[in-house]
Amino acid sequence: MNRVLVFLSIILLSITVKAQEYTNTFVPQPESVNFTFGDFNFNSETQIFIPSKYYADLKPIISSQLAKETGFNLLINKGKAKVKSNYILFQKVKDPSISPEGYQLEVSISKIIIRAKDYAGMFNGFQTLRQAIPIHIKGLNSIPGMEISDNPRFGWRGLMLDVSRHFQPKDFILKQIDVVSSYKINKFHLHLTDDQGWRIEIKKYPNLTKKGAWRADRGNIPWWERKAATANETKTIGGFYTQEDIKEIIEYARVRNVEIIPEIDVPGHSKALVASYPELFCSDIDTSNVNFEVATGGKAPNNTVCPASEFTYEFLEDVIEEIAALFPSKYLHIGGDECSKKDWKKSAMCAALMEENGLKDYEELQSYFIQRIHKIVEKQNKTMIGWDEVLSGNGVKGATIMAWRRGKQQPQLQAPRQGYPTIMTSYIYSYISQVQGPRFMEPEGPKVVLPLSKVYSHEPIPSELTKEEASLVLGNQTCLWAEFTPTKEHCEYMLYPRTLASAEVSWSQPEVKNWERFQKALEISHFKRLDRDNINYAKSMYSVYPAFAVNELRNEAIVYLDTETVGYDIYYTLDGTDPTSKSKKYTGNFTTTAKQLLKAGLFNKEGKLLGAITEIRLKIN
Ligand code: ACM
Repeated sequence: MNRVLVFLSIILLSITVKAQEYTNTFVPQPESVNFTFGDFNFNSETQIFIPSKYYADLKPIISSQLAKETGFNLLINKGKAKVKSNYILFQKVKDPSISPEGYQLEVSISKIIIRAKDYAGMFNGFQTLRQAIPIHIKGLNSIPGMEISDNPRFGWRGLMLDVSRHFQPKDFILKQIDVVSSYKINKFHLHLTDDQGWRIEIKKYPNLTKKGAWRADRGNIPWWERKAATANETKTIGGFYTQEDIKEIIEYARVRNVEIIPEIDVPGHSKALVASYPELFCSDIDTSNVNFEVATGGKAPNNTVCPASEFTYEFLEDVIEEIAALFPSKYLHIGGDECSKKDWKKSAMCAALMEENGLKDYEELQSYFIQRIHKIVEKQNKTMIGWDEVLSGNGVKGATIMAWRRGKQQPQLQAPRQGYPTIMTSYIYSYISQVQGPRFMEPEGPKVVLPLSKVYSHEPIPSELTKEEASLVLGNQTCLWAEFTPTKEHCEYMLYPRTLASAEVSWSQPEVKNWERFQKALEISHFKRLDRDNINYAKSMYSVYPAFAVNELRNEAIVYLDTETVGYDIYYTLDGTDPTSKSKKYTGNFTTTAKQLLKAGLFNKEGKLLGAITEIRLKIN
């Protein structure tokens, strides 16, 4: 009898350990997770209780998301728990160990409790609970007992989408808000205007969307080689959000704890703006050779508004007023990046303004412009955000900086050292417009590789900062610039899974980060969730990176293969056939005859090919 009991206990214990392993796949990883004894089982009788204050906003989300995870349409009530067991309770508490947006999650046999101070914490705690439901085990609706305590590392956990270079419709934005909010990303920054399109309705200036939202179709010509449009050409590529669309996006985001941050990019990157209203271009410049059409691709000369014309400020004040009224966020992003001074240098009006105001160079002229825009933004009771170029010249005290450049400029140090609240948007770690696998295997993109593991490895706080300076780092944000992502599918391919890595960088403390665990979490749970939700995520983390040197003296190639994933084997062939797990296993550098065709792939223990096959000729280019 005793032997039977011991046997049964071992089986039970091993099932529990397995369940825990399959549950412990959170992204972002919480501060602490402790498994306890006993599972909670969902069934059609499980009830949910939400504080009255949050009921209206939270109920529809919980109802639809739980139905998706469990298949049950559960009864959702207002207020305190009115049953003894089999319930989920959302509890508003004043516990000082819980930060804003943080939560505690307790799962036991009889109940699940999510404790938080605020709506955001309730929402975030529920997202963790969702992830604990083992969707990967069909028909299983039980969650192992556990106690989770979790608080965000940063208050700014952002994602930027450039909807100017390629417009994406409202429904696409809503879908992405759904996904990223489930990973506790709380800022969705819309880069609404640029040279290639103005994407938001401004009632006072209808030409911004009548003309500025549309460009001539050069879709079959490489981005950087596209010729400018003529005035008479039909303009069919583009689109824009009406103010009603924007309101819908904002509301959809609000109940998912996501704030929409609007960006209107001036004084550079403004070709669509000056194409719509050429009066914004410096009027004393000879414009006989200036093209006032929305840019069709990469090149966009004459794309600045005039800093020396009062009309510019009046116009932008009207625009900012409408934007400020529409978006509830306290932030308003005005761009300020990469402004060419070429045209300003031709303008006598600009020269006179500089003289009059003692501005010693064109960087100071830019900060004159930025400071005036800052005043306009402040008048609307908003905090202005600018890309780090707004630090040049005389800077703009009171603004918040998005520090994207690295290397010579070091705005990641300069901005917090000068007292600016700073959001890290490092182009090295956070520009997910860059390709994410071996360059020759990925769709067209900028010539830099930003693999998933590199996004994951990012530490947003530079070690050079003092504690006080570091306290000005508001958080971290990835950015998808959309020059090379014309389709929804391609956008999603670039966004995922790297946005999940970034979500963990922004939320989790560095001590709980672990690449191997993150990789395993993706594989056990999150890829299946993304599949279920029809997200076209990339599997580039399974690509094999080849490197080789050719020795012409001996007609030899020395080959080195690499992968960012852990726990798999590389197999390769040199005879032109596709590799299988029966092919030669890569165990380290090897030497072979030059000019051969190398094919390599990553395989799991069951012999399944995980990614695409790398194929490369071992010869000097
Ligand atoms: C930027 O990448 N120009 C902000």
